[in-house]
Amino acid sequence: MLQLRTCECVFVLSYCYLALLTVAQVTSPSEVNALLAVKNNLIDPMKHLSDWNKGDPCAFKWTGVFCSNSTGTDDYLHVEELQLMNMNLSGSLAPELGQLSHLKILDFTWNKLTGSIPREIGNLSSLKLLLLNGNKLSGSLPDELGYLSKLDRLQVDQNNISGPLPKSFANMSSIRHLHLNNNSISGQIPPELYKLSALFHLLLDNNNLSGYLPPELSKLSEMRIIQLDNNNFSGSGIPDTYSNLSRLAKLSLRNCSLHGSIPDLRSIRKLYYLDLSKNNLGGSIPSKLSDSMRTIDLSENHLSGPIPGSFSNLPFLQRLSLESNQLNGSVPAEIWQNMNSTKSARLTIDLRINSLSSISGALNLPDNVTLSFCLGLEAILFVRVQTQPT
Ligand SMILES: *[C@@H]1O[C@H](CO)[C@@H](O)[C@H](O)[C@H]1NC(C)=O
Ligand SMILES: *[C@@H]1O[C@H](CO)[C@@H](O)[C@H](O)[C@H]1NC(C)=O
Ligand SMILES: *[C@@H]1O[C@H](CO)[C@@H](O)[C@H](O)[C@H]1NC(C)=O
Ligand SMILES: *[C@@H]1O[C@H](CO)[C@@H](O)[C@H](O)[C@H]1NC(C)=O
Ligand SMILES: *[C@@H]1O[C@H](CO)[C@@H](O)[C@H](O)[C@H]1NC(C)=O
Ligand SMILES: *[C@@H]1O[C@H](CO)[C@@H](O)[C@H](O)[C@H]1NC(C)=O
Ligand SMILES: *[C@@H]1O[C@H](CO)[C@@H](O)[C@H](O)[C@H]1NC(C)=O
Ligand SMILES: *[C@@H]1O[C@H](CO)[C@@H](O)[C@H](O)[C@H]1NC(C)=O
Ligand SMILES: *[C@@H]1O[C@H](CO)[C@@H](O)[C@H](O)[C@H]1NC(C)=O
Ligand SMILES: *[C@@H]1O[C@H](CO)[C@@H](O)[C@H](O)[C@H]1NC(C)=O
Ligand SMILES: *[C@@H]1O[C@H](CO)[C@@H](O)[C@H](O)[C@H]1NC(C)=O
Ligand SMILES: *[C@@H]1O[C@H](CO)[C@@H](O)[C@H](O)[C@H]1NC(C)=O
Repeated sequence: MLQLRTCECVFVLSYCYLALLTVAQVTSPSEVNALLAVKNNLIDPMKHLSDWNKGDPCAFKWTGVFCSNSTGTDDYLHVEELQLMNMNLSGSLAPELGQLSHLKILDFTWNKLTGSIPREIGNLSSLKLLLLNGNKLSGSLPDELGYLSKLDRLQVDQNNISGPLPKSFANMSSIRHLHLNNNSISGQIPPELYKLSALFHLLLDNNNLSGYLPPELSKLSEMRIIQLDNNNFSGSGIPDTYSNLSRLAKLSLRNCSLHGSIPDLRSIRKLYYLDLSKNNLGGSIPSKLSDSMRTIDLSENHLSGPIPGSFSNLPFLQRLSLESNQLNGSVPAEIWQNMNSTKSARLTIDLRINSLSSISGALNLPDNVTLSFCLGLEAILFVRVQTQPT
């Protein structure tokens, strides 16, 4: 009698379990385990992940976990996004992240994560966004990330990453944004990166890179922004081929130990920002730049010769910094007199510490133009009078 009841009981329970399986959709068990391992490696002082033990991750919509809205061929739901930005999380990234095989977005921006980037993330073949910027991650960039052929954005900026920029990254064939600035990445920029034909932004500023600027990068025909400031390319000039980066809008190579002369950039029609300051560049200032120029900073170099007359045809110019060079000749006053008159922006011109001899044309300084220029004591006084409010 007693035995029979137990059997009935077992039968009823297993029937219910079957009914649950066919009706409710559940997360793939290996992904549930991976999520639990991820949480186990994190320190979560604000308890943002306190619901990461309640029922099924996809069915109960755990914080930051976003899943496919229907089951796959394996009858399970899959985690597609992990969005845990700005949650004060510390601890490290679990290697089990590599088991979230359907992941498209992995976002841990603005936390306090330490440790290294697990190489297993390279297994996430559907990954589109890998956003780890604003943490304290260290160690080197895993070669395996190069296998992420669908990756659109890799943002690891503002961490403490060291070691080289892997050659394998040349395999990230869909990448548009490569943001690795503000780390301690060292060594040569791999010339192979010219294969990244979709690349839009290359941000490697504030690292410890050395060697030369690869001329091959001129083949990156979609490129809009290149920022490499504060590295040490002491073996390099600026390759002439960069004049072929026809869609470039911003080129920033401040304080990169560059030598040689400035290439002819006139064919880059939409260039509006050019910062080559604090290098060892010689020769003369290029005679022509894009009409769109807003910022030109060539200060603290060894440039010589005159300021080109063509600078008087830059209607949108807002900053012209040429201080601390060996420029000579006279300064064409048309630079500030030919501003586009409907433009509300101000123009700041710094010409100090050069060998310029005079101003050609009437000084006639508009109120919204600031000129710093010394021709000796008399001229300093003169400019000061002109810039006083009337
Ligand atoms: C389910 O997901 C697919 C693809 O991600 C999407 O096109 C569809 O609109 C979604 N359906 C619902 C009800 O959210
Ligand atoms: C992060 O922690 C600080 C204190 O340590 C707290 O003031 C802040 O609200 C927290 N932010 C979030 C998003 O949890
Ligand atoms: C995941 O990555 C690791 C390390 O890169 C590798 O050893 C392993 O074979 C990969 N697993 C799968 C299922 O691809
Ligand atoms: C960065 O990493 C180095 C070791 O690679 C360590 O000595 C240093 O303290 C770290 N800096 C920060 C700000 O975490
Ligand atoms: C990835 O990059 C490495 C190193 O550049 C190369 O040897 C390998 O053939 C590439 N793999 C693919 C699939 O392109
Ligand atoms: C990157 O580092 C530079 C130099 O240390 C610093 O001036 C800049 O503010 C940093 N950028 C960010 C976004 O923190
Ligand atoms: C920068 O790289 C050089 C080798 O090129 C290395 O000796 C040095 O320790 C690195 N500095 C930092 C701060 O990573
Ligand atoms: C210039 O770059 C070097 C690295 O090459 C760095 O150590 C130095 O702090 C940078 N100077 C400025 C003013 O940022
Ligand atoms: C740049 O590297 C060269 C060669 O390694 C070295 O002599 C020079 O001091 C470095 N410059 C800076 C600013 O770190
Ligand atoms: C620019 O590209 C064209 C066509 O791809 C090529 O013929 C030319 O040599 C390149 N110019 C430079 C300076 O690399
Ligand atoms: C000056 O601004 C006006 C109005 O925005 C515009 O129509 C004109 O083309 C500009 N001039 C130049 C030289 O770009
Ligand atoms: C700047 O100067 C130009 C030319 O003198 C003038 O037309 C324009 O109104 C001024 N803009 C401002 C904001 O003062």
